[in-house]
Amino acid sequence: MKIIMLGAPGAGKGTQAKRIAEKYGVPHISTGDIFRANIKEGTELGKKAKSYMDQGLLVPDELTCDLVVDRISQPDAQKGYVLDGFPRTIPQAEALTAALEKRGEKIDYAIDVEVPDSNIIDRMSGRRACLSCGATYHLKYNPPKAEGQCDNCGASLVLRDDDKPETVRKRLDVYHSQTQPLIDYYKAAGALRGVDGTRDIDVVFQDIVGILGE
Ligand code: AP5
Ligand code: MG
Repeated sequence: MKIIMLGAPGAGKGTQAKRIAEKYGVPHISTGDIFRANIKEGTELGKKAKSYMDQGLLVPDELTCDLVVDRISQPDAQKGYVLDGFPRTIPQAEALTAALEKRGEKIDYAIDVEVPDSNIIDRMSGRRACLSCGATYHLKYNPPKAEGQCDNCGASLVLRDDDKPETVRKRLDVYHSQTQPLIDYYKAAGALRGVDGTRDIDVVFQDIVGILGE
């Protein structure tokens, strides 16, 4: 099962992708998490990515496409995967389609988590992220069991550097101009499925299970 998560920053792609990965036994591959792990480790890729991410801009396609194509070629991804945050531009989608076509494969579902911009700023300011395992919480909508601590791995939770309101607004602009065109791209490919992401996290997930099957 090969799945892509589409949706604005803060729509809940990561939250739902983690649940999909658990239920269907496929890896959750988030380019944002990969970049944040590289920033934390101080790698060359991390240094380059940080300068774009802090401004709310996209990391250039040439730093992103090969990384993902390599990741989905790993043994644990042969049964499928859920891609979160990739592709985000038409050239990235084309690179992914081309890499899959070489192996006679295609994306089965592109799930678009639909949330209007007006809900996003509130979600982002309350988000807390675990930079160790990639888990995401919300102070109000999805709090951790112990304050400031990840339920899965116990690491400290942080407010992401790019979750300041002015950076979130820039990310929304970038989303509308560069990523939203992917909705038509995957509609044309027959893979697009929309879910209303404004409802409770469990209700959104039930909709997704309805699409993917029990
Ligand atoms: P990335 O990490 O992918 O960030 P994003 O797309 O901006 O999305 P977010 O992770 O902010 O939101 P999300 O949809 O995962 O929502 P979440 O589940 O956390 O990318 C960051 C940066 O990396 C980019 O700006 C770019 O610079 C770079 N980058 C990454 N991939 C790239 C690529 N392919 N090409 C180029 N550059 C790339 O939920 C948000 C909050 O809401 C949480 O607190 C959550 O608990 C809460 N929440 C979730 N669902 C609900 C609900 N139903 N009701 C109430 N609250 C909810
Ligand atoms: Mg995310």
